[in-house]
Amino acid sequence: MAGGSAKICLPRRSIRSYWGVLFNLCERLSLLDKNHRVINYLRLSVTDRCNLRCIYCMPEQGVQFISHREILSYEEMLRIVRLCVHKGIRKVRVTGGEPLVRKDVTHFLEMLCNIEGLEEISLTTNGVLLKRFAADIKNSGIRRINVSLDSLKPERFFRITGKDYFERVWEGLEAAEHVGFHPIKINVVAIKGINDDEILDFAELAVRKPYHIRFIELMPVGNQSTWNAERFVSTDEIYQLIQSHADLSPVKSNPYDGPAQRFKIKGGQGEIGLISALSHHFCDQCNRLRLTPEGHLRGCLFSDQEIDLKTPLRQKKEDDDLLQLIELAIKNKPKEHGLLKCFPRKCVPQMNRIGG
Ligand code: 5AD
Ligand code: SF4
Repeated sequence: MAGGSAKICLPRRSIRSYWGVLFNLCERLSLLDKNHRVINYLRLSVTDRCNLRCIYCMPEQGVQFISHREILSYEEMLRIVRLCVHKGIRKVRVTGGEPLVRKDVTHFLEMLCNIEGLEEISLTTNGVLLKRFAADIKNSGIRRINVSLDSLKPERFFRITGKDYFERVWEGLEAAEHVGFHPIKINVVAIKGINDDEILDFAELAVRKPYHIRFIELMPVGNQSTWNAERFVSTDEIYQLIQSHADLSPVKSNPYDGPAQRFKIKGGQGEIGLISALSHHFCDQCNRLRLTPEGHLRGCLFSDQEIDLKTPLRQKKEDDDLLQLIELAIKNKPKEHGLLKCFPRKCVPQMNRIGG
């Protein structure tokens, strides 16, 4: 009897797993864009508002913010994320503006972390409110945070961000460390004549603290008046400078590293990361989609091509209609940003809206 039932059961199981494989394959295929890239990463900008005014991002005065009713509710965002997961998104990064200025954001993070099928959920913050929220963010289920910090000197921090909040950010970093975030990544946008003399200080911070310091090339997005080619510092220059003072050895990257090249710094607790957004552009490996706070899906930071999901969402369209639009955004993701061809003329405004 036992042998007989085994004969019946085995093929059934294998048929089911056969369908499983086929289903996964179809699911994977639907995630490929026209250029054969697997799109599995969504950057979700929950607000365009911010408590800083970084010189490369927003002018000090006169920024037009999206009205509250035009911004997606958390419920609307969660529905879109669930549908994106259905189309193969596995990793979400919450960005802004500054995500922590949006009301009840930690409750939203908790709901986001409960979405089945997401393998990694992370947050980028400017750190100003991190001290207050570090424990709640940790409890929500977020495991990875990136903190933007472009200077270790309080007066220079003020010059770059327009606010005297260096101490707050520093305390935020310590709070994040204290509640157990590890590693903590610090994003540094290197700008010639503004903070490029601090590159070694940041490298030294990666020796002293378990922080991953990630140098990002200044991109022609955001505040157009800051962007010009003379301000640009390449990651090659940064590498050369640090390597001439310390011993850098490459770290094998993992699928969640994104475009950063990682290095261990000899004797250090932390790491150095280099993000060559312009000089060695990584469009051929780009796996991202972006959702703007007003519910537009965008395939590339530098392309104005967007698909409006909010209108059909608010017209109570079926999941299938929205899924088709998400698929369209994936399929039509631009091949490359083409910035080097028009360098340095093109500048995409409103980084705070699209999400850094
Ligand atoms: N160039 C490079 N990085 C930028 N960011 C914002 N604007 C720019 C720009 N013009 C970064 C922020 C932050 C992340 C969200 O995006 O510094 O680290
Ligand atoms: Fe705010 Fe980030 Fe823009 Fe700075 S770069 S003003 S922290 S949104």
